[in-house]
Amino acid sequence: MRVKFIIVIILAFTIGAMTALFLRQGGFSSTSGNSVKTTGKALIGGAFQLTDHTGKRVTDKDFHGKFMLVYFGYTFCPDVCPTELQVISAALDKLGQKADRITPVFITIDPQRDTPETLAPYVTHFHKSLIGLTGSSDEIRRAAKAYRVYYARAKSEGEDPDAKTGYLMNHSSIIFLMGPDGTFATHFPHTTDPDKLAEKLSKFL
Ligand code: NI
Repeated sequence: MRVKFIIVIILAFTIGAMTALFLRQGGFSSTSGNSVKTTGKALIGGAFQLTDHTGKRVTDKDFHGKFMLVYFGYTFCPDVCPTELQVISAALDKLGQKADRITPVFITIDPQRDTPETLAPYVTHFHKSLIGLTGSSDEIRRAAKAYRVYYARAKSEGEDPDAKTGYLMNHSSIIFLMGPDGTFATHFPHTTDPDKLAEKLSKFL
């Protein structure tokens, strides 16, 4: 009886410790100011300071008042990013006038190559309202962290790790919808097609 009781205590302690560790490692915790809030809803997004494709400095607050459709990627991406940006553009076209309430935003995870000058012609290939954002390595790291986006330079055999061109990036491919107040509304996996995306977006508009 006593042994059983001790085992139960140990189990409870272990589960508690594991849960705390999970939450600390990014499950559902977020730091705002000096206090750490923990809620059941995933806290994705938040403050950022970046530079848009026209060279203007912007913050997340500049996007408040409209929904924001956020995608992280890089202009040199051969396949995934152009596909996703086409899906976003097609979905916005399907929404017609309603799409005026959404600002599509492409945040680079490759600031070394994606300067405003590189982003400016790139965004015009997709949607007229698409905004490209870049920044310093630190600014991009902070923005990606806020959205829990993973990115890293891909290592290929025999490649110079310091090469300034020609390299590929690995990155998460997720479309985030943020509400007009800047808080997370929902996200879409990268397999979502334009019809489905338009249909799901229209429920928020
Ligand atoms: Ni990509």
